[in-house]
Amino acid sequence: MSNSSNLNHPLLAELNQLRQERNAVILAHNYQNDEIQAFADIIGDSLALSQAAAQTEADVIVFCGVHFMAETAALLAPQKTVLLPASDAGCPMADMADAEAVTKWRQRYPQAAVVTYVNSSAAVKAVSDYCCTSANAVKLAQNIPETEIIFLPDQNLGSFVAQQVPEKTFHLWPGYCITHHRVTLAELEAAQKARPQAQVLIHPECQPEVVAQADFAGSTSQIINYVRRSNQTEFIIGTEMGILYSLKKENPAKTFYLLTPGLICPNMKKTTVENLYQALKTLQSVVTVQPEIQAQARVALERMLEYV
Ligand code: 13P
Ligand code: SF4
Repeated sequence: MSNSSNLNHPLLAELNQLRQERNAVILAHNYQNDEIQAFADIIGDSLALSQAAAQTEADVIVFCGVHFMAETAALLAPQKTVLLPASDAGCPMADMADAEAVTKWRQRYPQAAVVTYVNSSAAVKAVSDYCCTSANAVKLAQNIPETEIIFLPDQNLGSFVAQQVPEKTFHLWPGYCITHHRVTLAELEAAQKARPQAQVLIHPECQPEVVAQADFAGSTSQIINYVRRSNQTEFIIGTEMGILYSLKKENPAKTFYLLTPGLICPNMKKTTVENLYQALKTLQSVVTVQPEIQAQARVALERMLEYV
């Protein structure tokens, strides 16, 4: 989603000036703090932000998100300077797969294509055949020629895809998102009991029994699009709380209930107006990918963008 600046902050004038001087585009994931989303040029899910990075004419991409997202932007926009304002913002799920272990799985299932969630390191992408996001994982799995798939690192998104593509064989990596995986069916049932009139919208990083109970499961932007088109007025939201920024802004007459108060990703919350300002001012921290893995990782990512 394109955005016009709604930030109310003492640094706003300086931020705008630096954005212009640097010819920078500010990309913000749907889980970012409200003030970051208010200042960003583009807010989106992982797929939309990857597309934006690949297409931008800006010289500098400031990625308000976590490390694998900035790495993905660096791979898709190799001529650009990619900055991660919160230099220590990682993704615990991405850390649950390493290239050596993936290579061993390839040897164990030699017929299988390796389909890797974009929430992964560049090194893991480099030993993968395809990347995907939660927005296009099902479409990609349905349409690639291979009938056997190693899906990594998210077992929950993998189960969601496997269920919708029953004609293929899946080998699921045992990774998970610490924020989404801890949502329980009991918590969902309690939320539904309290708000029986509300529709339940869930991210597929949640466990299968939670997703099975949802009225809709999809990526963050797919959830936002669902609400935009829906005639319903109340929704229980089963994904990270940052999504409430766009949901409330776009739908002032609708009501949203976060499924549990624990739906917060600490890494996504590390980007602040102050470190964004420092990033623009100092042009730090630059995110790069080791030259020897760039070409292979880029192939898997470019295939991801073919299944939009
Ligand atoms: P999407 O915005 O692509 O749904 O991603 C969810 C996520 O957990 C990103 O880390
Ligand atoms: Fe990683 Fe989960 Fe945070 Fe997304 S929400 S960055 S998958 S830990």
